[in-house]
Amino acid sequence: MRAVALRHEICDNLRLKFIGAVWHMTTQFSVAGVELELLRYPAQQESNLQAWDAADEHLLKSLVESEQAAVPTAIINDSFGALSCGLSKLNPSWPLFVETDARTSFLGTEQNHGRNQLPMDNLQWFTSRDTLPNHLALVLMKLPKNLSYFAHQLTRLSQVLPTGTRVLVAAKAKSINSALLDIFAKHLGPASASLAWKNTRVITCVSDGKPRPLAKEVTWAVPEYQLEISNLSNVFAANKLDIGARIMLDNLPKGDFKSIVDLGCGNGVLGLRTAQLFPEADIHFIDDSEMAVASAKANWARNQLPADKGHFYWDDCMTHLPEEVQPDLVLCNPPFHQGEAITDHIAWQMFLDARRRLKDGGILHIVGNRHLAYHVKLQRLFKNCTTIASNGKFVILQAQKK
Ligand SMILES: C[S@@+](CC[C@H](N)C(=O)[O-])C[C@H]1O[C@@H](n2cnc3c(N)ncnc32)[C@H](O)[C@@H]1O
Repeated sequence: MRAVALRHEICDNLRLKFIGAVWHMTTQFSVAGVELELLRYPAQQESNLQAWDAADEHLLKSLVESEQAAVPTAIINDSFGALSCGLSKLNPSWPLFVETDARTSFLGTEQNHGRNQLPMDNLQWFTSRDTLPNHLALVLMKLPKNLSYFAHQLTRLSQVLPTGTRVLVAAKAKSINSALLDIFAKHLGPASASLAWKNTRVITCVSDGKPRPLAKEVTWAVPEYQLEISNLSNVFAANKLDIGARIMLDNLPKGDFKSIVDLGCGNGVLGLRTAQLFPEADIHFIDDSEMAVASAKANWARNQLPADKGHFYWDDCMTHLPEEVQPDLVLCNPPFHQGEAITDHIAWQMFLDARRRLKDGGILHIVGNRHLAYHVKLQRLFKNCTTIASNGKFVILQAQKK
């Protein structure tokens, strides 16, 4: 808790000092008689993004209008709990089975239930690798950006849903086309879309009761570093090395590192390479995606690295990293979107956390698209920033905690 409070304090100070403007975001959710106050996670962040979207509103509105009974319901890809809070508000004993791959979604849903005085006794959590219950009577989903992951989620549902179960998927109207409806038909059953409302539609898919096998993980090699990488379906860089990661691998820092954090590790390729270069070091892999953390862990074993030196955390940046971990190097290829939204607020949060957690003299070593101007952020935070390498598109930057 102290770590979160401290980050908010720093975040506040920097915001007032450097940005000179306070973000105003809407937090009042009001749809079909359901009133909630909803925040993103973390609640305090350098973005004016909202915790829900019109697709959430559309789904909840259609459930209220059809007087949906409180049957056992799965909720999948609910960003920060708008759907689960909405149903809990309609009926606090509505049995909810909430599946998410994102730690921020899990933490945000908890936070928003608390904020709206909604108990969570009616809710059970699942990651996208846990087995779902087989007595679901209704499924509500938000369409994720990654359609391979979506196909994986539908396939999982095909393995547990009785014939005729309705799956309602809310999405922006512009994301819905015949190719998407084919994905439903291939992995779960026939589907059709509603009329548009606020530029969104709700697709109704009816389970055909035929279980499908899960697709195999994708595996690929990075021959120049003798690494083999496998990726679960929701992991960044699905079937080849990311170009930002490649320039990072070609320009890793030198030093006598003992404790290294791979922040936003994805499949763990950066941390795996540092384990080869610095065999004495403990490597800490952190990602918001549970599948990413699972892939990094599997890749650690696949590349025969020593079990006691690899550590894995499903977390929002370094929020819950144990206090005794004091890195002397943090590696980071930061995300520049969250779901559909293009944003650099997570990069900012990662840099703040790195500054807070690095040992004195420790190094933050990052890669970024040149146009994102991360050097401005690092200079503000660390009061120093060195360009280590660059090509037309990417830049490798380093800042030292002094
Ligand atoms: C650009 S990818 C980099 C992946 C990998 N390090 C590489 O270089 O290929 C950014 C990663 O940050 C993760 N991420 C996004 N938000 C996060 C958060 N709040 N906390 C931790 N990781 C996060 C994403 O899941 C993704 O794996």
